[in-house]
Amino acid sequence: MMKKNFLMIYFIIILAMLAGCGAVEDKGASNSGGDESGKTLIMATSADYPPYEFVDTAKGGEVQGFDVDVANHIAKKLGYKIEIKDMDFNGLIPAINSGKADFVLAGMTPNAERKKKVDFSDEYYAAQQLIVTKDKSIKSVEDLKGKTLGVQLASIQEKEADKLLKNQKFNVVKRNKVTELIQEMKSNRVDAAIIEDAVAYEFLKKNKELSSFALPNTDAAGSAVAFPKDSDLTNKFNKELKKMKEDGTMDKLVEKWFGVKK
Ligand code: ARG
Repeated sequence: MMKKNFLMIYFIIILAMLAGCGAVEDKGASNSGGDESGKTLIMATSADYPPYEFVDTAKGGEVQGFDVDVANHIAKKLGYKIEIKDMDFNGLIPAINSGKADFVLAGMTPNAERKKKVDFSDEYYAAQQLIVTKDKSIKSVEDLKGKTLGVQLASIQEKEADKLLKNQKFNVVKRNKVTELIQEMKSNRVDAAIIEDAVAYEFLKKNKELSSFALPNTDAAGSAVAFPKDSDLTNKFNKELKKMKEDGTMDKLVEKWFGVKK
């Protein structure tokens, strides 16, 4: 009798394990083509970037924002569900390359270096760069001399700081999250930070002691969705992005999150 019970439990455990495996396989990050409808795609993002993606603790702590709405719209059209994984910005491309994410939506700019590692969709939004500071004596790039400038690790803003360093000396600090840069500016450990316009405005609204000015000689930086190389999702997303631009959905989302009519 004892032995029989034991066998039963053993059996149940094995069954439970098998069922568990099935669920994991369904979870995406393993997109191999064919009919994927109803499956879950894993979206990786870095939710330190309002209004693109941020966590509003007052609203349940879920990641929300422009990118989340864009992703949900496209996923719905394509018959996918989405699960969001929040991580540091510098972990996003590795997440794609290691199969932990099916795509990245994080206000990410498609540049040559990244294109070696991942594929990008068409661009869906473009931004300019600003210098944000609490220090009223910093009014131009020249005033950064000898100061400490913050940038997000692995971002294109990091590259902008390198360019500025060619002409003058200042310290560069790199942080995983834009929210850390804001905190450190408020506590005077960082004098200024390079942040893109829409994101900077969100932080300026909430932190009245901060101000900003345009970073000169920079091109508009677009945002695009990143995918594993040769993913069949790239084309599917591009088709939906095109439709969103044509039928006014994109304009509506831009107005909702950036407060501007295009
Ligand atoms: N557009 C910049 C880049 O691609 C910054 C993006 C930062 N995004 C974020 N979710 N923190 O490097």
